[in-house]
Amino acid sequence: MNDSNNASVIGGKSFTAVAINCAAKAGEWITTKLGNYSSLELKHSAHDLVTEVDKGSERLIRNLVATHFPDHSFLGEEGVEPGPEASAQALEEAKDAEYLWIVDPIDGTTNFVHSFPFFCVSIALAYRGEVIVGVVYDPVRDELFVAEKGKGAYVHGKRMKVSGEATLRESLIATGLPADHHYALPLNLKGVTAIAPQVRNLRIAGSAALHMAYVAAGRLSGFWEIGLNSWDLAAGALLIQESGGVVTDTKGEPYTLAVRNVAASNGHLHNELVQALEHAGAQA
Ligand code: IPD
Ligand code: CA
Ligand code: CA
Repeated sequence: MNDSNNASVIGGKSFTAVAINCAAKAGEWITTKLGNYSSLELKHSAHDLVTEVDKGSERLIRNLVATHFPDHSFLGEEGVEPGPEASAQALEEAKDAEYLWIVDPIDGTTNFVHSFPFFCVSIALAYRGEVIVGVVYDPVRDELFVAEKGKGAYVHGKRMKVSGEATLRESLIATGLPADHHYALPLNLKGVTAIAPQVRNLRIAGSAALHMAYVAAGRLSGFWEIGLNSWDLAAGALLIQESGGVVTDTKGEPYTLAVRNVAASNGHLHNELVQALEHAGAQA
């Protein structure tokens, strides 16, 4: 992650350095707005929130990326119409771009709105559809999770490694309660009912990207959720892969940018997790 030995350097600034700079600047600004935002709107449903801080964070990141890499494409949550169809369509249109920045300006907006300190900025860069840089920044704890394809993943400058639990019985697993209450939430609740009795415990803390970063850091054994978007997952997926873990869809198919139903783990208990979801009819 050093500029001098990084192949991905343009105009003196590596892709990773720009991603880190964007996440740090956005995160710092977001924390000044904690408990202090002024506009709250609903998006696709009464459970899908957006504030002026989400929009401002995305604008800041978009402008900074454009300053360094004006030819790159940009896919940010707040630049896309709400709802799963529009998200899938936006990804479809953008995914063949040579360089595509995929950004969730605040992952965990409900937490941010309630001053529950578990949210992050998630920034990924994909080259021809493959994620090559992933940065997740938790501004409350000042924790920066960084991965580069083929070069490992780091937090606080220390190499991350997934946890060693080999079975669901000894695992700590996280999931989410999706804003889409028609399709995704009932399926996820089916999974919760089936998985909770099989694991050491479940956590549902409200930020998919941060849960993924925690799997990479070995703080969680695994994570699954139905109905996510590319910007929730892209950075976290690379963090986990570069930390020795496994990311697939809930049916066990390999991760791509188009995956919306994710199963991520330390690898050791991956099949057991996917099978448990299958038995529960909770794979989507
Ligand atoms: C949400 C969070 C949450 C997950 C939802 C996501 P947002 O993202 O990641 O944990 O359960 O499915 O939509 O709206 O806060 O960016
Ligand atoms: Ca999100
Ligand atoms: Ca968001």
